[in-house]
Amino acid sequence: TTPKYVKVKDEATGIEIVLPGACSQKDFNSARKYKAKDSDVFVCSYPKTGTTWLLTITWLIVHHGEEIPKNYTDSIPTLEFDGCENIEAIDDGEFPRIIKTHFPYKLVPKNLKAKYLYITRNPKDAFVSYYFHVRGFNSVYHWKNPDLSNLYELYIKGEVTSGLFFDHLKNWYAHRNDPNVLFLLYEDVKQDPRNEVLKIAKFLGDEYEKKLKMDDGKILEIILERSSFSHMKGMSAWHTTYRPENEPFIRKGVIGDWKNHLSTEQADGLDRALMEHGKESGISKLWDK
Ligand code: A3P
Repeated sequence: TTPKYVKVKDEATGIEIVLPGACSQKDFNSARKYKAKDSDVFVCSYPKTGTTWLLTITWLIVHHGEEIPKNYTDSIPTLEFDGCENIEAIDDGEFPRIIKTHFPYKLVPKNLKAKYLYITRNPKDAFVSYYFHVRGFNSVYHWKNPDLSNLYELYIKGEVTSGLFFDHLKNWYAHRNDPNVLFLLYEDVKQDPRNEVLKIAKFLGDEYEKKLKMDDGKILEIILERSSFSHMKGMSAWHTTYRPENEPFIRKGVIGDWKNHLSTEQADGLDRALMEHGKESGISKLWDK
């Protein structure tokens, strides 16, 4: 069996993408109508690469360390699920709107003054995380007999939500040096969260960077604590509609969990695909360190 997906088409560009089973062409059309505001901050990614983590860090920086709300989807919309009207209805007054999206570069609403954060993660860990995600999110994917090999075959062809990992990454990577794009690696945030949080704050604006450093860096310490794996794992905001018997959304949070789940052939397959797609784009060097 395969997970439940929907394929939607963007009339303007002809781009077709696969979305989770709970989405519809109507939601997608509405999302495409959204016009980015100057103050918008977009948190962009391919699924399972650290989106929620980056979202949390971004929220904490923008809100000076204040915890993400329990009903976070009311304050942080997802472009492809919430659509234009719901996003426009969110008005945080003095704070910029933070919008999550897994859209490919071409479909994200552009505004030269808006900010775009993109996070990526090595594809082997991203795939393993995706497997647990699809398996656990029964209310969306209705996957009757979860099987990693079966999902791998779809993943390597890009027949999964948000299309092919490598295409998504390549298209964003090409814009990594745009002044309003910040390109991040999950592995860097894991290895040096302090440095990455400061980098993100600087990108969001001098006022945020300054605030973080005030009071001997008290807010920075709060942000680091509140975006740590152990803290996030305990937060009820992420306990959504997962199958109770399975791993939760904030699952393991490590580098290299693929070693526990992928066969040599599967790991090699993803490495080869990365090399292939990296020849011209340069993405194959991202995890060389
Ligand atoms: P694992 O399944 O490998 O644990 P996304 O938010 O894009 O869906 O990504 C989810 C992945 O990010 C999950 O990976 C999750 O555990 C991990 N993650 C979330 N918060 C994290 C944190 N504070 N530290 C490390 N990893 C985190």
